[in-house]
Amino acid sequence: MSMHTASMHPAAVEALAERAMPVIAPAAPHILIEGVDKRFVVPGGEIVALKDIDLTINRGEFVCLLGPSGCGKSTLLNAIAGFSAPTQGTIAVEKRKVTAPGPDRGMVFQEYALFPWMSVAANIAFGLEIKGMKRAEIDARVAELLAMLKLTEFRDRFPKDLSGGMRQRVAIARVLALDSPVMLMDEPFGALDALTRRSLQDELIRIWAATGKTIVFVTHSIEESIYLADRIVVLTYRPGTIKQDIRVELPRPRDSASAAFNELKRELGALVTAEQHRFEAVEVKGLTTD
Ligand SMILES: Nc1ncnc2c1ncn2[C@@H]1O[C@H](COP(=O)(O)OP(=O)(O)OP(=O)(O)O)[C@@H](O)[C@H]1O
Ligand SMILES: [Mg+2]
Repeated sequence: MSMHTASMHPAAVEALAERAMPVIAPAAPHILIEGVDKRFVVPGGEIVALKDIDLTINRGEFVCLLGPSGCGKSTLLNAIAGFSAPTQGTIAVEKRKVTAPGPDRGMVFQEYALFPWMSVAANIAFGLEIKGMKRAEIDARVAELLAMLKLTEFRDRFPKDLSGGMRQRVAIARVLALDSPVMLMDEPFGALDALTRRSLQDELIRIWAATGKTIVFVTHSIEESIYLADRIVVLTYRPGTIKQDIRVELPRPRDSASAAFNELKRELGALVTAEQHRFEAVEVKGLTTD
């Protein structure tokens, strides 16, 4: 506020402050990433995986991290998850500095991280048992998640007897069971066929809309990022920096055949292709730019 309030009566200042409150509440930052670098020491030198990453993700936002292989997407997600600390800079979730994994952040991995010796229902219940939830409550919650992810009739099967899509549904249910306000997803649908992928994308959007979770979703698919995200953060190939932060305003459900969708696809395609070429120059031809 640029008004001179020092000489005013405190009640008047308060009234003024109240009137000055915006009608629409400002978006609340949920994940705050400031000045993050991540370097890996490797034989003969160092790999700068992330450099100067500043990113604010608001509560309830669906953000995709997009970029070619090796641009640091997983590194950034792992840092938010607390699996691996930045070399420099800080990450805070809900104003608390991330120093370790925590129940406020659930992670869905690309490879289905299920316990092979446990049934579908037991896999989903696992985190709730660790939390010490009562049996009846666990059963009710598991039943609800099984229904939500269309897994009810598969509840007693083991992961090896499920398709890739089904396994990934279980992985999602397992993270949802913990009800973390932040969901981190590392190319969760990368290994699925196109139809299964689309149906899980639709389900994820439905769950996101119903639960209001903040989602950070890693993908190297331009199409997937436009289909899902409120915001697409394009990373550069080594060192991983933010190349572009693009807001996607298209209404949902999104039509991937629409002109607006394809316009964005072209735009992002040009950005990502430039990084892909740098990736190929380094990793395919064995050159180095580090
Ligand atoms: N533990 C590690 N030790 C050394 N280098 C690493 C380590 N983890 C990642 N890197 C390097 O850091 C860079 C970024 O890796 P990262 O896995 O984050 O990329 P990505 O964008 O997730 O790629 P992909 O799409 O292939 O999963 C790569 O060059 C990678 O080789
Ligand atoms: Mg990765």
